[in-house]
Amino acid sequence: MTKAKHTTITIQSMRQKGEPIVMVTAYDASQASHAQDAEVDVILVGDSVGMVMLGYDTTIPVTLDDMVHHAKAVRRGAGNTMVLVDMPFASYRQTVADTVRHAARIMQEAQADGVKLEGGTAIAPHVQALTDAGIPVCGHLGLTPQSVLQLGGYRVQGRDEKTAERMFEDARALVDAGAFLIVLECVPNALGKLITDSVSVPTIGIGGGPDCSGQVLVYHDLLGLNGTHEAKFVKRYSSLRTQIVDSIRTYRNEVKERSFPTSAYGYDVAAAAVEALSARVRGSDSE
Ligand code: KIV
Repeated sequence: MTKAKHTTITIQSMRQKGEPIVMVTAYDASQASHAQDAEVDVILVGDSVGMVMLGYDTTIPVTLDDMVHHAKAVRRGAGNTMVLVDMPFASYRQTVADTVRHAARIMQEAQADGVKLEGGTAIAPHVQALTDAGIPVCGHLGLTPQSVLQLGGYRVQGRDEKTAERMFEDARALVDAGAFLIVLECVPNALGKLITDSVSVPTIGIGGGPDCSGQVLVYHDLLGLNGTHEAKFVKRYSSLRTQIVDSIRTYRNEVKERSFPTSAYGYDVAAAAVEALSARVRGSDSE
């Protein structure tokens, strides 16, 4: 029997029951169908699409149009899995009216189940406006990749008392503004636990330690699809890049040496038709 799609309420009840929430990113319909078949709880259309699919160095160049385009494809492959979509860089940092208009595009055009925003206290009014507009919001604290230039690199956040306390306040501000979920990226295990135990909504860790209410990994990282350096928090469950490159190389070699395709990969035609065609070709050659 197909499971019912998660809602903000069922996600919250998983936290209450202590059932881990599983989230994975996806960026197109086929990846979403893999996640759906694997029965994850939530698919995130991350703006990491910019780095793992579009070849950018950071997530900063990703546009709202990019996110809508990929989210529409994910929705088509995701079946009844809950789909959250990242709002891209600076799309929720101007007026709250702009933020709601941008999120509404994601919700209406991609039929998303909610949006994710990076930041805490500073974006709380935007989170409030979105929840007032009926849009479920997931927050994102710790290493917030859209701020990588200002953070000075991809590094662990909240290691000292001051920054840890600020993150704690940020988490509270997000919950007060109506966020139903908070991603904690690259924060010390102890801080992940402290925030998880102190807020009333589930937390999803990515390098946030084992005590978060759930975990998220990037599709390409967990499958070993890209040859790039991976963060300490990534566990690779496959090395698909090697298998893919080997398969394409074998195909290339077989075409070069004419061992593929054999006639078994082609199509038959009635012998009489071939004969008639050959006779016609022979006739036109002799004219
Ligand atoms: O964009 C993304 O993939 C994310 C995850 C790392 C949480 O935000």
